[in-house]
Parts: sequence; C-alpha cells; structure tokens
Amino acid sequence: MTDPKPPLTLYLAAPRGFCAGVDRAIKIVEIALQKWGAPVYVRHEIVHNKFVVDGLKALGAVFVEELDEVPDDRPVIFSAHGVPKSVPAAAQAREMIWVDATCPLVSKVHIEAERHHENGLQMIMIGHAGHPETIGTMGQLPAGEVLLVETVADVAAVHPRDPEKLAFITQTTLSVDDTIEIVAALKARFPAIVGPHKEDICYATTNRQASVKAIAGQIDALLVIGAPNSSNSRRLVEVGRANGCAYAQLVQRATDIDWRALEGIRAVGITAGASAPEVLVNEVIDAFRARFDTTVELVETAKEHVEFKVPRILRMAE
Ligand code: F3S
Repeated sequence: MTDPKPPLTLYLAAPRGFCAGVDRAIKIVEIALQKWGAPVYVRHEIVHNKFVVDGLKALGAVFVEELDEVPDDRPVIFSAHGVPKSVPAAAQAREMIWVDATCPLVSKVHIEAERHHENGLQMIMIGHAGHPETIGTMGQLPAGEVLLVETVADVAAVHPRDPEKLAFITQTTLSVDDTIEIVAALKARFPAIVGPHKEDICYATTNRQASVKAIAGQIDALLVIGAPNSSNSRRLVEVGRANGCAYAQLVQRATDIDWRALEGIRAVGITAGASAPEVLVNEVIDAFRARFDTTVELVETAKEHVEFKVPRILRMAE
C-alpha cells in the first residue's frame, strides 16, 4: 500500500493571469495571421511569456527585436509594451503594413507625456531601466525630456532643467507600495511637480498585487507563474516577500517547481502574472494534486471587466 498523500491547501489568488492588454495583443497577432497569412512579424515578444510566444510561432508569427529585420512587404506588429515614436515612423517611411499592439493603458501614459511636454514640463519617469515599456515611453519625446528614476535614492540624484516645471509619469507594472514611496520622495524634493491623481500603474497590476497581499498571511509559500522578464510577475514575488511570505518564487511552469523546498509545507499561494496563460496555472495545480491531497481555495479580491478592442485595421466586419 502506498502512503497517503500529505494534505495541502492551495490558495488561488484572483484576479490573476491575463489582463485586457495582453488578451488584446495576442488576439491582434492571431487575427493578423488570419488576415494576411504567415509570416507576420512581431517586434519583440508580443507579451513576456515563452508559452504564448511559442504558440504564436507555431501559427506563423516571426519574432524579431528590431524593425530592420522585417522585410518591407510583410506586416509587422509592435508589442504590448509600446515602442518609441521612431519605430512606427520608420515603418511608415518604408510603407509597411504595421499594427500597434501597445496596451491602451500604456498609450494613455504616452499621451500624458506628450501633454506635459506641450505644456513645457520636463518629465521624471518612475520605471525600470531597459524594460521595453520604459524605452517606449521615454521614446515618445526627444532625448533629455524624460529622466528615469528607479528608486528613492535615484530621486536625490536626478537633475531636472527647472524644478518648477516638472511632471512625473510611471511604468504601468510597478510595485504599488514602492511607487508610493518614490512619488513621496519626488514631491518632497520638487513640491511643484505635477502627476496623475493615482500613479499610472494599471488596474491589472494593482489588482494582482492586492490579491497576493490578501493570501500572504495564510500561506507558507507563494508561487508566481510568469516569465523572468515579466515586470509585473517579478513584482508579485516581491509583494509576497514584503508581506511576510518567506518562500516566494517565480516559476514558468510546473517543471520549474522546486518540490524539495516545499517539503513539509501545508499552505501554498498561487498567482500568475498578467502575461501568463491559465493553462499553466492548471498545470501547476495538477502537479500539486499528483503529490498532495490538495484542497483549492479561491481568494478573489476584485472582479475585472476590462476589455479592449483590436485596432480598426483588424476588425473583420469593417
Ligand atoms: Fe496593459 Fe496593465 Fe496589462 S498596462 S498590458 S493592462 S499589465
């Protein structure tokens, strides 16, 4: 007779996984492939998830890092993270067919940046250096118009042209709590700085972090399903740790789980970053069921009803 499986409760955070911007970006690639046939080129991973990217590759999408790698006569899609203005301008100059899959909530920040610039304000962007969203947002304006800060310490070191003429904008996928501190430091150093009522952190990032906080007190370990280059997924791991969860790990899928580290553990939290598909969450739950007598408890802290339309060029009926 085999030993009975040890009992374990899985606290499943909700909302988790795909947000409206990711859903739209994936649909854009799928519809573009139906409309124009393969290959359709995509500049940068459409969303930061290997499983999603591999699925689209199998349908005929070709992923490249730069527009130069795309032939003139094939359609190209720009990823959900947004692109510097120079990219669509170059596609236009080459008379390419291009589709912008930038999340509308990122585009909103681009518009905000332009408005501040027109009003003569220089900007401080709170974001992560090198992340494509940061590169895209900073690239909406001429060099030097947007200064980047990543931490409270950076705020002390930044040198704006005129402290009286400043605005701040943020990346959409930051840690809500860290950003509150950075904004407070900016306001303390530059009292005239203007910014959004709330930061530009999007609803999906905010909701996913709040649901992790709701389960953090009940769990011994947190697994965040997401990619290592996914900003919002990495923030979920940090939120878990900051809220008392000593073991919080990012896993891309079930095969990444370190079962030895989970020995003796009785309560595990599961969530997924905004670019991680639900099929990978189910795979992880099944892996737990195979090893433990598993009870799944859903902890839902918000309901999401956000949906974005695909760009007009891809709406079949029009
Ligand atoms: Fe958009 Fe937020 Fe998702 S900015 S792509 S809704 S994580």
